[in-house]
Amino acid sequence: MKVQSNAVVRPARNIRGSVELPGDKSISHRYGMLSGIAEGPSRIENYSTGADCASTLGCMRAMGVKWERKSEGQNVIEVQGHGLSLAAPAASLDCGNSGSTMRMLSGIVAGQSFTSEMIGDESLSRRPMERIIKPLSAMGAQIESQQGRPPLRITGGPLKPIDYKMPVASAQVKSCLLFAGLFADGETRVEESVRTRDHGEVALRAFGAELQRKMAGGGSEVRIRGGQRLQGIEARVPGDLSSAAFFLCAAALFPGSELTLPNLLMNPTRARLLDVLMQMGLHISVTQLEEIHGEMVGSLQVEGAKLKGTTIAGADSAALIDEIPVLAAIAPFTDQGIEVRDAKELRVKESDRISAVATNLRKMGAQVEEFEDGLKIPGGQTLHGAELDSFDDHRIAMAFAIAALRAEGETVIQGAEAAAISYPAFFETLEGLTAR
Ligand code: S3P
Repeated sequence: MKVQSNAVVRPARNIRGSVELPGDKSISHRYGMLSGIAEGPSRIENYSTGADCASTLGCMRAMGVKWERKSEGQNVIEVQGHGLSLAAPAASLDCGNSGSTMRMLSGIVAGQSFTSEMIGDESLSRRPMERIIKPLSAMGAQIESQQGRPPLRITGGPLKPIDYKMPVASAQVKSCLLFAGLFADGETRVEESVRTRDHGEVALRAFGAELQRKMAGGGSEVRIRGGQRLQGIEARVPGDLSSAAFFLCAAALFPGSELTLPNLLMNPTRARLLDVLMQMGLHISVTQLEEIHGEMVGSLQVEGAKLKGTTIAGADSAALIDEIPVLAAIAPFTDQGIEVRDAKELRVKESDRISAVATNLRKMGAQVEEFEDGLKIPGGQTLHGAELDSFDDHRIAMAFAIAALRAEGETVIQGAEAAAISYPAFFETLEGLTAR
């Protein structure tokens, strides 16, 4: 049985302090999977503490991969690579709440010589899987689903390469197909018309795979040859920028804020949030930029300022997909408000994030216009504290903890435990940074 817990958030004066973020969720998933199918040991420091990345490790263990947590904080893991060929799991592979686990790991499972079942929680069981079922089936995997939704029953085997233009902008699908490409007899090519995060490509190279990349227009093309063997690595996962987004937006709410974020992921396919916040008026400076295993890492100094508004549309909506909930949650406190369009994908995330944001903002007394693909939230509004729902969605729970800092009166977030999906220490950390 799931234990529900509420978080109470009181208004703040500003945000002050320094916080090192847990390892990036997207990179942790990929390192967790690739270290399992690599040869030799891997040591991964600052592996994400979130429940989602633990789901990935759980699935890898179920397929014979040995790994151990090595540190007190539980965020250093050592993995003994099993090589490309994994062991048949004795039970269903439980992906929990994690769409990333199910979608990306199915690319690896599709290349195995066994049948396995991938299951997920109630939220994951509602999410669309057709986007990976179609191309993986074209590569030769046999996949049964519940009308395109989980559970997935995958019978894998040697795969045929694919030349695939992705109809939805999705980094999960891109990584899934590149991972499957390792098991294909020939060269797989994946094309995207809108550039999405490239951690799959960068991680494959870090584990020794060769791949060719071309950026053209707003999109990209990646080619990978099958049969390549991976080698284990020693790595440190940069701090999660999508988790840092909550503190960045909190700092942005108060002109007196001062925040330092060391060792933060600065990958250009993820850092659009920093441009947008700077265009809106937040002062951000980046120091000590370095590259680790192909990923850019830097330290951020942030000073709050008065925020203008913005419009997020087109390619920006894909680039900011995980940060839109918190940007929308602070929109009423900006001068001109925020409009979000071309973000229909938000409706099929861990919750329907467009509807969840609109519902919670309205409960706080905000005026909001909702569209099929976005929201329009006027600026200059005054909000009051309210009883809100996380909709069992980590990013909704955390986004409204931030909005609550500028509301009048106390806010209660029901189902706040959802934050543990990506950031178990979120509420304590926020409390430590909040000046009242
Ligand atoms: C992710 C990609 C995004 C994002 C998710 C993580 C990834 O999903 O929303 O939280 O790690 O590749 P899509 O690629 O499906 O848009």
